[in-house]
Amino acid sequence: MRKLISSIIATIIVATVYATDGLMPSVGSPFSIIPVPNKIEITKGTYKLPDNGATFYIKGEKDCTLGEYLRTSSLALQQANKAGSANILIEISNKKGENNREAYELHITPKRVSIKATDEAGAFYAIQTILQMSEGGAKRELQCCSLSDAPRFSYRGLLFDVSRHFRSKEFLMKQMDAMALMKLNKMHLHMTNGAGWRIEIERYPRLTEFAAWRPYRSWMDWADDTRYCESNYPTAYGGYYTKEDIKEILKYAEARHITVIPDIEMPGHSEEVLAAYPELSCSGEPYKNSDYCIGKEETFTFLENVLTEVMELFPSEYIHIGGDEAVKQGWKDCPHCKRRMQEEGLENVDELQSYLIHRIEKFVNSKGHKIIGWDEILEGGLAPNATVMSWRGTEGGIKAMKAGHDVIMTPGESCYLDFTQDAAFKEPVSIGGYTPLKKVYMYEPLEQNISAEEAKHLLGLQGNLWSEYITEDSHAEYMYYPRAFAIAETGWSRPENKDYENFRSRALGLCSLLQAQGYTTFDLANEFGERKESLQPIEHLGKGCKVSYKLPYNSKYSANGDATLTDGVLGGWTYLDKCWQGTMKDVDVTIDLGTVQPIKYVGASFMHSAGAWVHVPKKMDVYLSEDGEEFTLVGTVWGDIPNEIPKILFKQYSVVCNGKARYIRVHATRNDRPGAWLFTDEIVIN
Ligand code: ACM
Ligand code: ZN
Repeated sequence: MRKLISSIIATIIVATVYATDGLMPSVGSPFSIIPVPNKIEITKGTYKLPDNGATFYIKGEKDCTLGEYLRTSSLALQQANKAGSANILIEISNKKGENNREAYELHITPKRVSIKATDEAGAFYAIQTILQMSEGGAKRELQCCSLSDAPRFSYRGLLFDVSRHFRSKEFLMKQMDAMALMKLNKMHLHMTNGAGWRIEIERYPRLTEFAAWRPYRSWMDWADDTRYCESNYPTAYGGYYTKEDIKEILKYAEARHITVIPDIEMPGHSEEVLAAYPELSCSGEPYKNSDYCIGKEETFTFLENVLTEVMELFPSEYIHIGGDEAVKQGWKDCPHCKRRMQEEGLENVDELQSYLIHRIEKFVNSKGHKIIGWDEILEGGLAPNATVMSWRGTEGGIKAMKAGHDVIMTPGESCYLDFTQDAAFKEPVSIGGYTPLKKVYMYEPLEQNISAEEAKHLLGLQGNLWSEYITEDSHAEYMYYPRAFAIAETGWSRPENKDYENFRSRALGLCSLLQAQGYTTFDLANEFGERKESLQPIEHLGKGCKVSYKLPYNSKYSANGDATLTDGVLGGWTYLDKCWQGTMKDVDVTIDLGTVQPIKYVGASFMHSAGAWVHVPKKMDVYLSEDGEEFTLVGTVWGDIPNEIPKILFKQYSVVCNGKARYIRVHATRNDRPGAWLFTDEIVIN
């Protein structure tokens, strides 16, 4: 120890700089690390780890899993016999009362590498820093430096949706290696949803014989014929984890300081269970309901039995119980649900859902675990010890924090990784949306109206990759990386050390490192960026003119209200950007130019995003009128994008004419597909 300190003092400190200063020495640079460490001091010289036979020595922990990890990691380390001879000396103090068990100090001098931490987790993260500096162990010459590092948040997570498309345990373990490298520590495993049940439950074999399989691989094909099949059906597609698989996954996670949080969805999104065990639904019939019947005691017996088997397997303190997007409609007419509401004095179906969540929380708490639920669990009254995962923006999370509940932020517009990360025309099929790397990175989970006391309840954040349209494993990786780096840096690094341009250049490096290790990543170097048309307002005759609506637009997608279609602003890559106006009816509007004027052109652009049920109109008719009474049809444009085209496309419908008018009526007829949306950004008149 004495020797170690004196060697640090003897080192000439040549610079104290932070990553945001833009200094990027190339050899084993600590400035390349994601997430950016709290404090970096560059010191003179380099340390060369031997190419072969590099050693470590752990002081303070005898039976830790770190030793085993180090032997098998790409640093290829062997255990030294003595502390004095080790290339990497690790000291774990096990100091009681230390509240940040993930913090570490890393000192690299020309003589050796030394790591100090209070807990194995911190030492593990110091090793991850070295793994990044050494480009996965390939570059053995490390820049001398002193790092002092600790996470900002304790919860830094990614969601894996293995229900929509089953992923192998090997896939999950591969992603854990990447997660560990960027110091992410929570894997939210979404194992049950309408698309398939993914975990063996001994008491309910039909969950894995039947509810885990469907006849179609493609989401679009299955959406047209939503049913399940036996596992031996000729085109059966799906799968599940056996208990042995789960144990293997958990062992791998534990060695990487990742908590796997099991997610058993209730009371909604449960079509697969209710097809296998229809007696748990209100109708008692398969393929009728997506919510469990909360009136029936069998539902609670089932859920408690399932959760018991799950809690026996998973050491995670948290069990995610879903709670999102229950339809709730079937409960209103169900005699069992009605009786429950009467007996329990529940006023409405929100309170009925809340009854289930409260009861399940009590059960989960009685087994020593806690529940996490999506922000819908606030509706009808929040269960007393529940942690809220805020996805419909941040309002639910803020409300929960203010009520003294722990919160994990994962607002859709910043943290949903199923949205495209670049111009939709060049990206693989997606559910819609547009969440480029910068948007994920710029998200700040702690909003200004939160007091210091309330902020203690903000556990961290999570990126969610819902996987309806993500069939291939490589596509899933493409969606995670590099956006997961941004989640990691926001979760770990101090806000004052964050800088997007600096981060982007580090992200390019980490993408290359992941690619070299066999991961697929988004091609960040060739990012196209925003829809160019949306960046500058446009001028045209109709700009700022009054629009009268024959049919109302949808209140959820009102954009800039009545001004949207003539505000001179074109939409970006997503209908969620508040520039696109949405309706499930026709668009039938009249624009008043104020005076009669020559009209040569009337056009509008529409969006196609079949995955999100967004379709261009079947046709668009344009009429001109001088007096607002008598209208003349001057042109019709017919839609030509087939519904089944999965790509996101933009289509301009243009009518060229030679008339005079004060009033211009544009009537876009909605696509015939049931449930189709119609999104318009601007009606351009010239
Ligand atoms: C969710 O995206 N339904 C949580
Ligand atoms: Zn019911």
